[in-house]
Amino acid sequence: MLPPALPARIDTERYRLDQLQPADAAALLAHFADPDVTRYLDIDPLAELAEARDIIDWAQGLARDRAGGRWAIRARDEGVWLGTAGFNAITRARASRGEIAYDLAREWWGRGVMREVLPALLHVGFADLDLNRLEAFVTPGNEPSRRLLTRHRFRQEGLLRAYGRWRGRDWDQELWSLLRADWAASRGP
Ligand SMILES: CC(C)(COP(=O)(O)OP(=O)(O)OC[C@H]1O[C@@H](n2cnc3c(N)ncnc32)[C@H](O)[C@@H]1OP(=O)(O)O)[C@@H](O)C(=O)NCCC(=O)NCCS
Repeated sequence: MLPPALPARIDTERYRLDQLQPADAAALLAHFADPDVTRYLDIDPLAELAEARDIIDWAQGLARDRAGGRWAIRARDEGVWLGTAGFNAITRARASRGEIAYDLAREWWGRGVMREVLPALLHVGFADLDLNRLEAFVTPGNEPSRRLLTRHRFRQEGLLRAYGRWRGRDWDQELWSLLRADWAASRGP
C-alpha cells in the first residue's frame, strides 16, 4: 500500500503553504539568490532560473514518490512570498522518520513566521504522514534555527563531523530530533 501523500496545501492562521509549482521558479530564484538565506544551507546562492527549476523538479519528484516535498510559504491575505518549508526526505524502509527543512526571506526573519508554520509542519509529519521521528540538520552557528527547534522541543542528539560537503569544504552538521510521543505530550490531553 502506498504511504499517505503530502497535502497540496496547508493553512495556518496567517500563512498558506502550497507545494512548489513550476510557476514559482522566479520567486524561488529571488529567494535562494540571497546569500544571507543560503549562508547555513547546503546550496550556493542561485544565479539562474534553471537552478530554481531544478529544485522544483526535485521537490515534485519527492512528492510523487511520497519521499518528501516542499511548500512555498506565502501570506494568506496578499500572497506575498515568505520562503519555503518541507521534508527533504521521508524514510519508511525499516524506519518511520522525516527530515524537515525551512528557510525564510531575510525580511521575514524574527517575525514569528516559523513559530506559526513549524507546528503545522509537525502536524503533517506526525499526524498526516504518521511518522514517528522528525529530524533536522543544522549547520553550527545557525542560532535562529537552533532556537526555533529548541522552542518546539527538538533535542540535539549530536554533532555529525564532516557530514556534508559543499562550497568546496566539509561541514559538520548538528542532528536534532523530535519524537512523536514528545510532540503528542506537548499538545496536552
Ligand atoms: C531559521 C529561520 C527560519 C528562523 O526564523 P525566525 O524568524 O528567526 O523564527 P521564528 O519565526 O520562530 O521567529 C522567532 C523570533 O521572532 C520574534 N518575533 C517577532 N514577532 C513575533 C511574533 N509575532 N510571534 C512570535 N515571535 C515573534 C521572537 O521574539 C523570536 O525571537 P527568539 O527566537 O529570540 O525567541 C530563519 O532565520 C531563516 O530562514 N534563516 C535562513 C535559512 C536557514 O538557515 N534555515 C534553517 C536551516 S537549518
